[in-house]
Amino acid sequence: MSHMLVIHGGAGAIRAPERYAPSLRRIVEAGARLLEEGAGALDVVSHCVALLEDDPLFNAGCGSVLNAEGEAFCDASIMDGRSLAAGAVAGVKGVRNPVRLARLVMETTPHVFMIGAGAERLGRAHRLAFEADSYFVTPARLEELARTKARGAVTLDHAEPVSGKLGTVGAVARDGAGNLAAATSTGGLVNQMSGRVGDSPVIGAGVYADNESCAISCTGVGEKFLRTCLARTAALFVETQGLAAPEAAKAAVAYLMRRVRGSGGLIMVDRAGRCGVAHSTPGLLWASAENGTIHAP
Ligand code: GLY
Ligand code: GLY
Repeated sequence: MSHMLVIHGGAGAIRAPERYAPSLRRIVEAGARLLEEGAGALDVVSHCVALLEDDPLFNAGCGSVLNAEGEAFCDASIMDGRSLAAGAVAGVKGVRNPVRLARLVMETTPHVFMIGAGAERLGRAHRLAFEADSYFVTPARLEELARTKARGAVTLDHAEPVSGKLGTVGAVARDGAGNLAAATSTGGLVNQMSGRVGDSPVIGAGVYADNESCAISCTGVGEKFLRTCLARTAALFVETQGLAAPEAAKAAVAYLMRRVRGSGGLIMVDRAGRCGVAHSTPGLLWASAENGTIHAP
């Protein structure tokens, strides 16, 4: 059976997209190799999102943007389309790979969503890697925060024309057995209020996966995705209107723009393995692999 992987590194007015191309290609190739070797969709999306988190170019894990207090807090989520099992974390600090912590919530607790210190303790109990503040709070992110504060703005990381580091991240996959999975991870918005949480860790807003329809990961100004339950809305276009992923992605973004003038985009794969990518922003950083054939910027 055919397999499909799509990854994204955020949406926005992306300057110099060629800066991100080598990372996107390397990471989608790593995921494609796993799929070729027979790995399941869940393992592939968590692996790809962890690699995106490790790459300081993207706004997740290392290289997360800073909130108004100059701190980096991370949010992440993962969902398994076989059973609708899901795990998410918000406001976690020091965890090298927040997506792995989201997966621990899904697989080792009776819960779906954990925040802050309790979630971090779960990660320590399972010996996840932790890093010092200096790993997350990079000089480029400090400069970006200072510039954003000077403008009195709260922005997408990629809204910053001179930003060196861009993008919330995510991955969606359909494996050879026909299973779907999705994962999303972010540092949030530059200069966001301490305690603010966006859509990325909210099941049905920033992430969704159901073997009966599709798998979705979103990026953009989270408040708009929360108010439109955008990931679940996109899945409903597949489920109830029978749209294929390319059309459902466009329909979801049209709804996002029409109802709340939302800024962002999404990637999706449907149960037939078709891929959909749509955005209301000028650009979206993404790459895909279909049965080993790579499409990357
Ligand atoms: N940093 C917000 C986003 O790209 O989704
Ligand atoms: N989409 C990421 C956020 O708003 O935090």
